[in-house]
Amino acid sequence: MHKKRIESVPVSGKKVFIRVDFNVPMDGGVISDDRRIRASLPTIRSVLSRGGRAVLASHLGRPEGKGFEAEYSLAPVAKRLTELLGADAPHGVSFPSNDCTDDATRAAIGAMPEKGVVLLENLRFVKGEKKGDPAFAEKLATLCDIYVNDAFGTSHRADASMHALPMAMGARGAARVAGYLLAAELEYLYGRIAAAERPFTAILGGAKVSDKILAIENLMTKVDRIIVGGAMAYTFLRAQGVATGNSLVEADRIDLAKEILAKAKSRGCAFLLPGDHVCGREFKAGTETTTVTGAIPDGWMGLDIGAATRALFADAIRTSRTVVWNGPMGVFEMPPFDAGTRAVADAVVAATAAGAVTIAGGGDTAAAVEEFGVAEKLSHVSTGGGASLEVLEGKHLVCLDAIDNA
Ligand code: 3PG
Ligand code: MG
Repeated sequence: MHKKRIESVPVSGKKVFIRVDFNVPMDGGVISDDRRIRASLPTIRSVLSRGGRAVLASHLGRPEGKGFEAEYSLAPVAKRLTELLGADAPHGVSFPSNDCTDDATRAAIGAMPEKGVVLLENLRFVKGEKKGDPAFAEKLATLCDIYVNDAFGTSHRADASMHALPMAMGARGAARVAGYLLAAELEYLYGRIAAAERPFTAILGGAKVSDKILAIENLMTKVDRIIVGGAMAYTFLRAQGVATGNSLVEADRIDLAKEILAKAKSRGCAFLLPGDHVCGREFKAGTETTTVTGAIPDGWMGLDIGAATRALFADAIRTSRTVVWNGPMGVFEMPPFDAGTRAVADAVVAATAAGAVTIAGGGDTAAAVEEFGVAEKLSHVSTGGGASLEVLEGKHLVCLDAIDNA
Protein backbone atom coordinates (compact mmCIF):
# COMPACT_ATOMS: atom_id res chain seq x y z
CA MET A 1 0.00 0.00 0.00
CA HIS A 2 2.10 2.92 -1.27
CA LYS A 3 0.30 6.21 -0.80
CA LYS A 4 1.48 9.72 -1.56
CA ARG A 5 2.74 11.28 1.66
CA ILE A 6 2.45 14.69 3.27
CA GLU A 7 6.19 15.40 3.06
CA SER A 8 6.08 15.04 -0.74
CA VAL A 9 3.71 17.99 -1.30
CA PRO A 10 4.68 21.67 -1.01
CA VAL A 11 2.42 23.31 1.58
CA SER A 12 3.88 26.81 1.84
CA GLY A 13 1.06 29.35 1.67
CA LYS A 14 -1.52 26.55 1.34
CA LYS A 15 -4.47 25.60 3.49
CA VAL A 16 -4.24 21.95 4.39
CA PHE A 17 -7.32 20.04 5.52
CA ILE A 18 -6.12 17.36 7.95
CA ARG A 19 -8.72 14.73 8.82
CA VAL A 20 -7.53 13.51 12.20
CA ASP A 21 -9.07 11.01 14.61
CA PHE A 22 -9.50 12.97 17.84
CA ASN A 23 -12.16 10.53 19.03
CA VAL A 24 -10.45 10.28 22.41
CA PRO A 25 -11.87 8.78 25.60
CA MET A 26 -13.44 11.47 27.80
CA ASP A 27 -14.33 11.29 31.45
CA GLY A 28 -16.64 14.11 32.52
CA GLY A 29 -15.23 16.58 29.98
CA VAL A 30 -11.61 15.57 30.72
CA ILE A 31 -9.51 13.71 28.13
CA SER A 32 -8.48 10.44 29.78
CA ASP A 33 -6.04 9.35 27.05
CA ASP A 34 -4.53 11.85 24.61
CA ARG A 35 -2.50 9.36 22.56
CA ARG A 36 -4.45 10.03 19.36
CA ILE A 37 -3.83 13.76 19.74
CA ARG A 38 -0.11 13.28 20.35
CA ALA A 39 0.11 10.93 17.37
CA SER A 40 -1.19 13.67 15.05
CA LEU A 41 1.51 16.18 15.98
CA PRO A 42 4.19 15.19 13.43
CA THR A 43 1.80 15.85 10.53
CA ILE A 44 0.58 19.17 11.93
CA ARG A 45 4.16 20.27 12.64
CA SER A 46 5.24 19.27 9.14
CA VAL A 47 2.60 21.58 7.66
CA LEU A 48 3.32 24.50 10.00
CA SER A 49 7.11 24.30 9.81
CA ARG A 50 6.91 24.51 6.02
CA GLY A 51 4.76 27.63 6.08
CA GLY A 52 1.35 26.01 5.63
CA ARG A 53 -1.94 26.54 7.46
CA ALA A 54 -3.63 23.58 9.13
CA VAL A 55 -7.38 23.02 9.27
CA LEU A 56 -8.06 20.06 11.54
CA ALA A 57 -11.30 18.10 11.52
CA SER A 58 -12.51 15.09 13.50
CA HIS A 59 -15.50 13.42 15.01
CA LEU A 60 -15.87 12.65 18.71
CA GLY A 61 -18.19 9.92 19.92
CA ARG A 62 -21.55 9.25 18.37
CA PRO A 63 -23.73 12.36 18.64
CA GLU A 64 -27.17 12.33 17.07
CA GLY A 65 -26.26 14.44 14.05
CA LYS A 66 -28.78 17.15 14.86
CA GLY A 67 -26.35 19.90 15.76
CA PHE A 68 -24.27 20.82 18.79
CA GLU A 69 -24.23 18.57 21.87
CA ALA A 70 -21.94 19.81 24.65
CA GLU A 71 -21.02 16.28 25.71
CA TYR A 72 -19.39 15.65 22.33
CA SER A 73 -17.69 19.01 21.85
CA LEU A 74 -14.06 19.02 20.72
CA ALA A 75 -13.40 22.09 22.91
CA PRO A 76 -11.28 20.10 25.43
CA VAL A 77 -9.27 18.75 22.49
CA ALA A 78 -8.60 22.29 21.19
CA LYS A 79 -7.21 23.16 24.61
CA ARG A 80 -5.03 20.07 24.85
CA LEU A 81 -3.77 20.53 21.30
CA THR A 82 -2.79 24.14 22.05
CA GLU A 83 -0.68 22.90 24.98
CA LEU A 84 0.93 20.14 22.96
CA LEU A 85 1.81 22.32 19.96
CA GLY A 86 3.21 25.11 22.12
CA ALA A 87 5.57 27.36 20.18
CA ASP A 88 5.10 25.29 17.01
CA ALA A 89 1.69 26.99 16.63
CA PRO A 90 2.58 30.64 17.30
CA HIS A 91 -1.06 31.75 16.89
CA GLY A 92 -2.46 28.92 19.02
CA VAL A 93 -5.37 26.75 17.97
CA SER A 94 -8.47 28.63 16.94
CA PHE A 95 -11.78 26.91 17.58
CA PRO A 96 -14.15 29.26 15.84
CA SER A 97 -17.66 27.88 16.13
CA ASN A 98 -19.91 25.06 17.27
CA ASP A 99 -20.94 24.40 13.67
CA CYS A 100 -18.25 23.35 11.21
CA THR A 101 -20.31 24.54 8.22
CA ASP A 102 -21.22 28.07 9.34
CA ASP A 103 -19.93 31.48 8.25
CA ALA A 104 -17.83 31.96 11.38
CA THR A 105 -15.86 28.83 10.53
CA ARG A 106 -15.45 29.86 6.92
CA ALA A 107 -14.34 33.37 7.94
CA ALA A 108 -11.83 32.01 10.47
CA ILE A 109 -10.30 29.78 7.80
CA GLY A 110 -10.27 32.65 5.29
CA ALA A 111 -8.38 34.85 7.75
CA MET A 112 -5.79 32.28 8.86
CA PRO A 113 -2.24 33.60 9.12
CA GLU A 114 0.79 31.56 8.06
CA LYS A 115 1.31 28.80 10.65
CA GLY A 116 -2.29 29.23 11.73
CA VAL A 117 -4.27 26.27 13.12
CA VAL A 118 -8.05 25.97 13.06
CA LEU A 119 -9.90 23.05 14.65
CA LEU A 120 -13.42 22.48 13.38
CA GLU A 121 -16.15 21.39 15.80
CA ASN A 122 -17.26 17.74 15.78
CA LEU A 123 -18.05 16.74 12.19
CA ARG A 124 -20.76 14.33 13.37
CA PHE A 125 -22.87 17.24 14.63
CA VAL A 126 -23.80 17.40 10.94
CA LYS A 127 -25.98 14.51 9.81
CA GLY A 128 -24.25 14.39 6.43
CA GLU A 129 -20.97 13.22 8.00
CA LYS A 130 -22.15 9.72 8.98
CA LYS A 131 -24.22 9.48 5.82
CA GLY A 132 -21.19 10.14 3.62
CA ASP A 133 -23.23 12.95 2.09
CA PRO A 134 -21.58 14.45 -1.05
CA ALA A 135 -23.33 17.81 -0.48
CA PHE A 136 -21.72 18.13 2.97
CA ALA A 137 -18.40 17.01 1.49
CA GLU A 138 -18.73 19.72 -1.20
CA LYS A 139 -19.03 22.38 1.52
CA LEU A 140 -15.85 21.17 3.17
CA ALA A 141 -14.07 20.75 -0.18
CA THR A 142 -14.00 24.50 -0.83
CA LEU A 143 -12.20 25.29 2.44
CA CYS A 144 -8.70 24.01 1.63
CA ASP A 145 -6.13 23.26 -1.09
CA ILE A 146 -4.76 19.90 0.07
CA TYR A 147 -6.38 16.92 1.81
CA VAL A 148 -4.55 14.80 4.36
CA ASN A 149 -5.86 11.59 5.86
CA ASP A 150 -4.21 11.18 9.26
CA ALA A 151 -7.24 9.45 10.76
CA PHE A 152 -6.33 5.81 10.46
CA GLY A 153 -8.74 4.99 13.33
CA THR A 154 -11.67 6.15 11.20
CA SER A 155 -10.50 4.75 7.88
CA HIS A 156 -13.00 1.86 8.08
CA ARG A 157 -15.87 4.39 8.02
CA ALA A 158 -16.97 5.87 4.70
CA ASP A 159 -17.98 9.08 6.49
CA ALA A 160 -18.17 12.22 4.34
CA SER A 161 -14.89 13.68 5.57
CA MET A 162 -13.14 10.34 5.08
CA HIS A 163 -14.28 9.46 1.57
CA ALA A 164 -16.63 11.86 -0.26
CA LEU A 165 -14.45 14.83 0.73
CA PRO A 166 -11.14 13.55 -0.69
CA MET A 167 -13.05 12.40 -3.77
CA ALA A 168 -14.50 15.91 -4.20
CA MET A 169 -11.16 17.61 -3.58
CA GLY A 170 -9.44 15.23 -5.98
CA ALA A 171 -11.99 16.16 -8.65
CA ARG A 172 -10.85 19.78 -8.17
CA GLY A 173 -7.24 18.75 -8.69
CA ALA A 174 -6.16 18.85 -5.05
CA ALA A 175 -3.51 16.45 -3.76
CA ARG A 176 -4.81 13.84 -1.30
CA VAL A 177 -2.07 12.43 0.86
CA ALA A 178 -1.32 10.29 3.89
CA GLY A 179 -0.10 12.00 7.06
CA TYR A 180 2.71 10.53 9.18
CA LEU A 181 0.32 8.69 11.48
CA LEU A 182 -1.50 7.02 8.61
CA ALA A 183 1.76 6.24 6.80
CA ALA A 184 3.15 4.46 9.88
CA GLU A 185 -0.05 2.45 10.29
CA LEU A 186 0.07 1.37 6.64
CA GLU A 187 3.73 0.48 6.86
CA TYR A 188 3.20 -1.85 9.82
CA LEU A 189 -0.30 -3.24 9.35
CA TYR A 190 0.17 -3.89 5.63
CA GLY A 191 3.88 -3.72 4.79
CA ARG A 192 5.50 -5.47 7.74
CA ILE A 193 2.77 -8.09 8.02
CA ALA A 194 2.98 -8.91 4.30
CA ALA A 195 6.76 -9.26 4.61
CA ALA A 196 6.64 -10.98 8.01
CA GLU A 197 9.69 -12.93 9.13
CA ARG A 198 8.93 -16.26 10.77
CA PRO A 199 8.03 -17.51 13.23
CA PHE A 200 5.01 -15.23 13.00
CA THR A 201 2.71 -15.27 16.03
CA ALA A 202 -0.74 -13.73 16.49
CA ILE A 203 -1.98 -13.09 20.03
CA LEU A 204 -5.72 -12.66 20.30
CA GLY A 205 -7.70 -11.90 23.40
CA GLY A 206 -10.79 -10.13 24.63
CA ALA A 207 -14.20 -11.23 25.71
CA LYS A 208 -15.83 -12.69 22.63
CA VAL A 209 -14.93 -15.17 19.92
CA SER A 210 -17.61 -13.52 17.79
CA ASP A 211 -15.63 -10.24 17.77
CA LYS A 212 -12.42 -11.89 16.61
CA ILE A 213 -13.64 -14.72 14.40
CA LEU A 214 -12.85 -13.05 11.07
CA ALA A 215 -9.42 -11.97 12.31
CA ILE A 216 -8.62 -15.50 13.50
CA GLU A 217 -9.69 -16.99 10.18
CA ASN A 218 -7.64 -14.53 8.17
CA LEU A 219 -4.55 -14.66 10.42
CA MET A 220 -4.60 -18.43 10.38
CA THR A 221 -3.63 -18.24 6.70
CA LYS A 222 -0.59 -16.07 7.52
CA VAL A 223 0.86 -16.96 10.92
CA ASP A 224 2.63 -19.98 12.39
CA ARG A 225 0.83 -19.89 15.72
CA ILE A 226 -2.17 -18.29 17.31
CA ILE A 227 -2.25 -17.61 21.02
CA VAL A 228 -5.70 -17.14 22.51
CA GLY A 229 -6.37 -15.61 25.91
CA GLY A 230 -9.11 -13.54 27.53
CA ALA A 231 -12.65 -14.77 28.01
CA MET A 232 -12.86 -15.94 24.39
CA ALA A 233 -10.49 -18.75 25.36
CA TYR A 234 -13.27 -20.35 27.45
CA THR A 235 -15.47 -20.83 24.41
CA PHE A 236 -12.56 -22.66 22.73
CA LEU A 237 -11.93 -24.75 25.85
CA ARG A 238 -15.60 -25.76 25.90
CA ALA A 239 -15.24 -26.73 22.25
CA GLN A 240 -12.48 -29.08 23.43
CA GLY A 241 -14.75 -30.49 26.11
CA VAL A 242 -13.02 -28.75 29.04
CA ALA A 243 -15.31 -27.61 31.88
CA THR A 244 -15.22 -23.82 32.35
CA GLY A 245 -17.36 -23.35 35.50
CA ASN A 246 -19.00 -19.93 35.58
CA SER A 247 -16.64 -18.40 33.02
CA LEU A 248 -18.01 -16.29 30.22
CA VAL A 249 -18.78 -18.62 27.29
CA GLU A 250 -20.60 -17.86 24.05
CA ALA A 251 -22.74 -20.99 23.97
CA ASP A 252 -23.88 -20.32 20.41
CA ARG A 253 -20.26 -20.15 19.19
CA ILE A 254 -18.99 -23.45 20.56
CA ASP A 255 -19.53 -25.26 17.24
CA LEU A 256 -17.83 -22.41 15.41
CA ALA A 257 -14.91 -22.67 17.84
CA LYS A 258 -14.68 -26.39 17.01
CA GLU A 259 -14.53 -25.57 13.31
CA ILE A 260 -11.80 -22.99 13.85
CA LEU A 261 -9.72 -25.44 15.85
CA ALA A 262 -10.10 -28.06 13.12
CA LYS A 263 -9.18 -25.56 10.39
CA ALA A 264 -6.09 -24.41 12.28
CA LYS A 265 -5.03 -28.01 12.70
CA SER A 266 -5.45 -28.85 9.03
CA ARG A 267 -3.43 -25.75 8.11
CA GLY A 268 -0.63 -26.66 10.49
CA CYS A 269 -1.18 -23.45 12.45
CA ALA A 270 -0.45 -24.06 16.15
CA PHE A 271 -3.29 -22.95 18.44
CA LEU A 272 -2.24 -22.20 22.00
CA LEU A 273 -4.96 -22.07 24.65
CA PRO A 274 -4.57 -21.47 28.38
CA GLY A 275 -4.13 -24.60 30.53
CA ASP A 276 -4.32 -22.90 33.91
CA HIS A 277 -6.43 -20.01 35.07
CA VAL A 278 -6.67 -17.36 37.73
CA CYS A 279 -10.33 -17.54 38.77
CA GLY A 280 -12.59 -15.34 40.80
CA ARG A 281 -15.88 -15.96 42.56
CA GLU A 282 -17.41 -12.94 40.88
CA PHE A 283 -16.56 -10.39 38.21
CA LYS A 284 -15.59 -7.67 40.65
CA ALA A 285 -12.56 -6.10 42.29
CA GLY A 286 -11.56 -7.75 45.55
CA THR A 287 -13.39 -11.01 44.78
CA GLU A 288 -12.04 -14.24 46.30
CA THR A 289 -9.51 -15.84 43.90
CA THR A 290 -8.03 -19.25 43.21
CA THR A 291 -5.76 -20.78 40.61
CA VAL A 292 -6.98 -23.80 38.69
CA THR A 293 -5.25 -26.14 36.25
CA GLY A 294 -7.49 -27.81 33.66
CA ALA A 295 -11.23 -27.92 34.36
CA ILE A 296 -12.70 -24.89 36.13
CA PRO A 297 -15.15 -25.97 38.85
CA ASP A 298 -18.65 -24.56 39.14
CA GLY A 299 -18.78 -21.46 41.27
CA TRP A 300 -15.57 -20.04 39.76
CA MET A 301 -14.96 -17.97 36.67
CA GLY A 302 -11.70 -17.66 34.80
CA LEU A 303 -10.56 -14.02 34.77
CA ASP A 304 -6.92 -14.35 33.70
CA ILE A 305 -4.40 -16.88 32.42
CA GLY A 306 -2.43 -18.79 35.07
CA ALA A 307 1.34 -18.84 35.71
CA ALA A 308 2.10 -21.94 33.60
CA THR A 309 0.18 -20.44 30.67
CA ARG A 310 1.99 -17.13 31.09
CA ALA A 311 5.30 -18.98 30.79
CA LEU A 312 4.10 -20.99 27.77
CA PHE A 313 2.78 -17.93 25.94
CA ALA A 314 5.86 -15.84 26.81
CA ASP A 315 8.10 -18.52 25.39
CA ALA A 316 6.20 -18.64 22.09
CA ILE A 317 6.26 -14.84 21.86
CA ARG A 318 9.94 -14.39 22.72
CA THR A 319 10.99 -16.84 20.02
CA SER A 320 8.92 -15.08 17.32
CA ARG A 321 10.28 -12.74 14.64
CA THR A 322 6.92 -11.10 14.00
CA VAL A 323 4.10 -10.61 16.52
CA VAL A 324 0.64 -9.17 16.07
CA TRP A 325 -1.35 -8.62 19.27
CA ASN A 326 -5.02 -7.69 19.61
CA GLY A 327 -6.88 -8.18 22.89
CA PRO A 328 -5.98 -8.63 26.57
CA MET A 329 -5.39 -11.98 28.27
CA GLY A 330 -7.58 -11.23 31.26
CA VAL A 331 -9.37 -8.45 33.10
CA PHE A 332 -6.28 -6.25 33.08
CA GLU A 333 -8.14 -3.25 34.50
CA MET A 334 -8.82 -5.22 37.70
CA PRO A 335 -5.73 -6.52 39.55
CA PRO A 336 -4.76 -9.24 40.25
CA PHE A 337 -6.28 -10.26 36.88
CA ASP A 338 -3.78 -8.06 35.01
CA ALA A 339 -0.83 -10.43 35.45
CA GLY A 340 -1.44 -12.39 32.24
CA THR A 341 -1.67 -9.30 30.05
CA ARG A 342 1.43 -7.88 31.76
CA ALA A 343 3.37 -11.10 31.14
CA VAL A 344 2.41 -11.05 27.47
CA ALA A 345 3.35 -7.36 27.22
CA ASP A 346 6.75 -8.11 28.80
CA ALA A 347 7.33 -10.96 26.34
CA VAL A 348 6.38 -8.74 23.40
CA VAL A 349 8.83 -6.10 24.67
CA ALA A 350 11.54 -8.78 24.96
CA ALA A 351 10.83 -9.98 21.43
CA THR A 352 11.10 -6.41 20.15
CA ALA A 353 14.42 -5.91 21.94
CA ALA A 354 15.65 -9.10 20.26
CA GLY A 355 14.82 -7.67 16.83
CA ALA A 356 11.27 -8.89 16.19
CA VAL A 357 8.66 -6.67 14.56
CA THR A 358 5.82 -6.30 17.07
CA ILE A 359 2.46 -4.70 16.39
CA ALA A 360 -0.32 -4.10 18.91
CA GLY A 361 -3.79 -2.95 17.93
CA GLY A 362 -7.22 -2.47 19.43
CA GLY A 363 -8.38 -0.02 22.07
CA ASP A 364 -7.91 -2.33 25.07
CA THR A 365 -4.49 -3.54 24.00
CA ALA A 366 -3.27 -0.01 23.30
CA ALA A 367 -4.63 1.09 26.70
CA ALA A 368 -2.92 -1.86 28.41
CA VAL A 369 0.55 -1.26 26.93
CA GLU A 370 0.17 2.44 27.69
CA GLU A 371 -0.81 1.68 31.31
CA PHE A 372 2.12 -0.73 31.69
CA GLY A 373 4.45 1.98 30.35
CA VAL A 374 5.76 -0.15 27.47
CA ALA A 375 4.04 1.38 24.43
CA GLU A 376 7.32 2.92 23.19
CA LYS A 377 9.06 -0.45 23.44
CA LEU A 378 6.92 -2.11 20.77
CA SER A 379 7.59 -1.58 17.06
CA HIS A 380 4.11 -0.17 16.53
CA VAL A 381 1.00 0.49 18.60
CA SER A 382 -1.95 1.21 16.35
CA THR A 383 -4.20 4.20 17.00
CA GLY A 384 -7.03 2.20 15.46
CA GLY A 385 -9.49 -0.08 17.22
CA GLY A 386 -12.10 -1.18 14.70
CA ALA A 387 -9.90 -0.07 11.80
CA SER A 388 -6.88 -2.17 12.83
CA LEU A 389 -9.12 -5.17 13.45
CA GLU A 390 -10.60 -4.81 9.95
CA VAL A 391 -7.09 -4.85 8.49
CA LEU A 392 -6.32 -8.04 10.43
CA GLU A 393 -9.58 -9.46 9.09
CA GLY A 394 -8.25 -8.85 5.58
CA LYS A 395 -10.97 -6.29 4.82
CA HIS A 396 -10.40 -3.46 2.41
CA LEU A 397 -10.53 0.04 3.94
CA VAL A 398 -12.43 2.01 1.34
CA CYS A 399 -11.23 5.44 2.54
CA LEU A 400 -7.69 4.56 1.50
CA ASP A 401 -8.84 4.44 -2.12
CA ALA A 402 -9.51 8.16 -1.94
CA ILE A 403 -5.82 8.94 -1.23
CA ASP A 404 -3.42 9.39 -4.15
CA ASN A 405 -1.05 6.53 -4.82
CA ALA A 406 2.66 7.27 -4.55
C1 3PG B 1 -13.00 4.66 16.67
O1 3PG B 1 -12.51 5.06 17.73
O2 3PG B 1 -13.41 3.49 16.52
C2 3PG B 1 -13.02 5.60 15.52
O3 3PG B 1 -12.76 6.91 15.94
C3 3PG B 1 -14.33 5.52 14.77
O4 3PG B 1 -15.40 5.83 15.61
P1 3PG B 1 -16.78 5.05 15.46
O5 3PG B 1 -16.54 3.62 15.87
O6 3PG B 1 -17.74 5.75 16.35
O7 3PG B 1 -17.16 5.13 14.00
MG1 MG C 1 -15.14 2.30 16.93
